[in-house]
Amino acid sequence: MDFFQYRDGQLFCEDVAVDDIMAKVGSPVYIYSKATFERHYDALASAFAELDPIVCYSIKSCGNLNIIKLLAKRGCGMDVVSGGELFRAQQAGADMSKIVYAGVGKTDPEIEAGIEAGIGWFNIESEAEFENISAIAKRLGKTASGAVRVNPDVYDPKTHAKTSTGRKETKFGVDIERAKRFFESYGHDEHCRLTAIHLHIGSPIYSPEPYVRAITKALELIDGLRASGYTVDTLDIGGGYAADYETGKSPAYTAYAEAIVPLLRGRDLRVIIEPGRTISGNAGVLACKVSYIKTGGSKTFAIVDTGMHHLIRPSFYEGFHFTWPTKVADEHVPTARAQEMDMPGLQTYDVVGPICETSDTLAKGRKLPPLKRGDHLCIFTAGAYGMVMASNYNAMPRPAEVLVDGGEAAVIRRRETYDDLVEQERRVTAI
Ligand SMILES: Cc1ncc(COP(=O)(O)O)c(C=O)c1O
Repeated sequence: MDFFQYRDGQLFCEDVAVDDIMAKVGSPVYIYSKATFERHYDALASAFAELDPIVCYSIKSCGNLNIIKLLAKRGCGMDVVSGGELFRAQQAGADMSKIVYAGVGKTDPEIEAGIEAGIGWFNIESEAEFENISAIAKRLGKTASGAVRVNPDVYDPKTHAKTSTGRKETKFGVDIERAKRFFESYGHDEHCRLTAIHLHIGSPIYSPEPYVRAITKALELIDGLRASGYTVDTLDIGGGYAADYETGKSPAYTAYAEAIVPLLRGRDLRVIIEPGRTISGNAGVLACKVSYIKTGGSKTFAIVDTGMHHLIRPSFYEGFHFTWPTKVADEHVPTARAQEMDMPGLQTYDVVGPICETSDTLAKGRKLPPLKRGDHLCIFTAGAYGMVMASNYNAMPRPAEVLVDGGEAAVIRRRETYDDLVEQERRVTAI
């Protein structure tokens, strides 16, 4: 699972106590475990090894340069969705031939940057975008490579509506019928080689079954296209593999692979996978401090020094994050991370942030060991869609990020200061 474990009632990230990091770096702080990133990447790659896939880590899930670097060093490709993410991948020394670039609104400068960098594939979301990429490649005297993003119209009822993308009525990609016409129009284009299909049905997907349905539909499409004389040599099956927000709730990588690999075996297709949260989710936590305990009606609130501005998943997606003190008595050492904890002496809290919004709630009606002002709390499985979605709302500086490697810890992004907040506003330029 991950390398955040209690030893003698004290939470450790690998071999470093979370409280020691907080003593040095302050609160709140995102803390990442290098070994967890590596373990998850290695385990996923090995589960799918028979297909020899290109694993493209979704930078959008956790994009610190130092994290991209450590995965790139391991041979991982990257999934990007903007010029900024492409820039990050370049700065981290990622292999450009293993870059896939998705997103419905790629701008001309972003497309130019992708073509100039020699990225592997543009995952193309519309006919208008294809024509634009082809025209830009022609102007640059280069050839781009593209995949059509297909909505297989597959729905996973467990996926939150805000993160479900594989249905017909989404802004992403085109439906299967339109994908056929896409190839009829552009399948022999000179400037953008259209030889791939891209799927991404949403996330997190808690069972292999929606992938099986989506891939089966994509393979029928590919068979038809090949029979009509089009080259289709690559299938990108997207991301969405679950993270362990709760112990034992997500399938093992081998369970996904056992269902998916037989479909793709012997198909003469290069396979791409785009995992984000399953690699980064459990590799990071957000550690924070209790500012106040307050009662309101029948409720007890633990008000902490972080909130929706640093971790928006609970208020945006109703995302569950196991939350627990960094230091606990023996009887409160958690043996599993669950929504309902059953231990003696727990009290019920709403864990809330300081932001002036009612939705600034990190955990509702949660049973926790008794808390007091100054206690440290750890919000687990916050590595994915945590810091990358953080904002300065209410003029709050963003937290520091720390990467732990065994017994060593290093700040990989310094805490923002009040000066950082106003830096871009100091110079007023007439236009
Ligand atoms: C196209 C695409 N690929 C991959 C991902 C990664 O999803 P996850 O982090 O759930 O694996 C996303 C997430 O939004 C996506 O939009």
